[in-house]
Amino acid sequence: MSTILHIDASIRAASNPNPNHNSISKNIAHHFIQTWKTRYAIGEYIYRDVGINPPPFITQEWMGAAFTPEQNRTAQQHDLLKLSDQLIAEIVAADLIIISSPMYNYGMPAQLKAWFDQIARVNKTFDFDLTRGDFPLQPTLSGKTLLIITSSGEFGFEQGGIRAQMNHLVPHLHTVSKYLGVDKIYEIASEYQEFADDRHRQSVADAYAKAEQLALELGQELELMIEANAVVLS
Ligand SMILES: Cc1cc2nc3c(=O)[nH]c(=O)nc-3n(C[C@H](O)[C@H](O)[C@H](O)COP(=O)(O)O)c2cc1C
Repeated sequence: MSTILHIDASIRAASNPNPNHNSISKNIAHHFIQTWKTRYAIGEYIYRDVGINPPPFITQEWMGAAFTPEQNRTAQQHDLLKLSDQLIAEIVAADLIIISSPMYNYGMPAQLKAWFDQIARVNKTFDFDLTRGDFPLQPTLSGKTLLIITSSGEFGFEQGGIRAQMNHLVPHLHTVSKYLGVDKIYEIASEYQEFADDRHRQSVADAYAKAEQLALELGQELELMIEANAVVLS
């Protein structure tokens, strides 16, 4: 059974007294999970709402602790890295990582960036070796699948779209997902929220349909992959 790590990043709740205020990205992600559960079991579902409970920003002391070899760290340094260690352990455990995020100011919410800053750690999620030349950083994890679910107020952020050059959310997620050990990426995008017109309603409906289709496809794919790994290991 798959382990799913789900990171929600909207500052909006999934359900509010006024449904017009409900987070679209959270609800699409919820629909994905619910569809998955109709056909496939989930071994472990690890959930973090970093939009509502953001991790703290990293500091100079945090960086000092991260670069101190583990056996030389003071108790205070171990303490500073406790959350980071926990967040990384959640990534290590995951087969599928879902990041559901709004677009804020053409990029990812600061809360989600704070999560990435906590988990990009030397000798944990990447190692550093200058003998590799111009690309000394190398991710240490692998074999994971990432599903990116986004919601935006404007539209045309897809490749070739009228705002493709303004999309600093999905391309950024592609770049930093290396440190999550991601080999495969799937995307669902809902757009036009600020227009609140038929184009928006169609975009949301398409995103829900894609979430349903992907939940069934990925559910099967991951089950088969886990079974195959179990055979190799036994
Ligand atoms: C602080 C803030 C910044 C935003 N910046 C953008 C933006 O740069 N481009 C855009 O298309 N929409 C922008 N939006 C609109 C959101 O992306 C849109 O409302 C989206 O549906 C939010 O995701 P959610 O529904 O999951 O909360 C912004 C919204 C907020 C609150």
